[in-house]
Amino acid sequence: MHKRQIKEKIHWMGAVDWDSRLFDSLIPLPDGTTYNAYLVEGSEKTALLDAVDPPMADELMAQLDEVPKIDRLISHHAEQDHSGTIPRVLDRFPEAKVVTTPKAKGMLIDLLKIPEDKFVTVTDGETLSLGDKTLKFIHTPWVHWPETMVTYLEEDRILFSCDFYGSHIASTDLFVTDQGRVHEAAKRYFAEIMMPFRNVIKKNVEKLKGYDIQMLAPSHGQIYDRPAWIMDAYREWILGAPKNTVVLPYVTMHGSTKIMVDHMVASLVKKGVRVELFNLTVTDIGKLAMALVDAGTIVIGTPTVLAGPHPLAAYAAFLANALRPKAQFLSIVGSYGWGGKTVETLAGMIPNLKVEVLDPVLCKGLPSENDFKALDRLADAIAEKHAAHGFG
Ligand code: FEO
Repeated sequence: MHKRQIKEKIHWMGAVDWDSRLFDSLIPLPDGTTYNAYLVEGSEKTALLDAVDPPMADELMAQLDEVPKIDRLISHHAEQDHSGTIPRVLDRFPEAKVVTTPKAKGMLIDLLKIPEDKFVTVTDGETLSLGDKTLKFIHTPWVHWPETMVTYLEEDRILFSCDFYGSHIASTDLFVTDQGRVHEAAKRYFAEIMMPFRNVIKKNVEKLKGYDIQMLAPSHGQIYDRPAWIMDAYREWILGAPKNTVVLPYVTMHGSTKIMVDHMVASLVKKGVRVELFNLTVTDIGKLAMALVDAGTIVIGTPTVLAGPHPLAAYAAFLANALRPKAQFLSIVGSYGWGGKTVETLAGMIPNLKVEVLDPVLCKGLPSENDFKALDRLADAIAEKHAAHGFG
């Protein structure tokens, strides 16, 4: 695809990746993604903002055939899907300097072996004049690496945000056309990589409050020409209270855990609690991560296998622990044949979660009437906790 104009002397460049289905060998990409770079041509200097993932480098390099000069290459984030092609751009434009944070400079040297004399580092709030266009660099650490920054183009009031506010959607649309679809993809992306850092990111969100942002141009997905809604959505994901929702990832082997889970779901629904259920043998972990953004309670359903939780349940606990969602309560339901340490093992896997653990319910073999009553008591406790904490 050719470079595409966003505004006068400002172009989208980069690549649409229709085929990728997994990022970092971990994160599902059901709709592919885009790697967005941006060209800003001032009356004196030209800047390229970010580059693309190395497998897509030829597309960017072909677009750069039409560009007579690059004076500054702005690197918002050292991760290779945006920085990996920088060495090729520097080979093509040897006069260009890489503009980045001091921390990113070190990381780019480590990751890509870019020579030290190619860098200009910028402090938080520093500006760079391109002539009739001014770039202001705002340090926004931990989106989702420690070195990240964003750039505000003052005259055009555009924020170039890299991963921040991005979404993984391959599309020929330059601007957001389907807000519902982008909302889901952006929430998934926030959940997968930014949620663990939300206490730092909220400071970045606050920092951007004072800027008049007319357009928000991330480095994945489509450009927001009406950005207020996505900025509000981020505020809700980061600062909003948990919802009256239970996320229930489970796995079953011979059916006992499934019977308990089904009873638990029905009991919770009867008490007015919403449930998001995930059978871990078929779960898209991005969907599970997204559900964890708002949930008030996590309940893990697992049979006992090899004296502990099923490995898929252990994976769900590990993931929840790593993502550090805002849930405030957690419990475990499941079954065992003759014994084991399922509850102790799972409880030991979630040190990052600031949750109150509610009495687990584990049954021997098929659940009995007493087990169903215990599940009803657990559902009651969850409903009461949610109501007492005002989870809506
Ligand atoms: Fe899109 Fe953190 O890279």
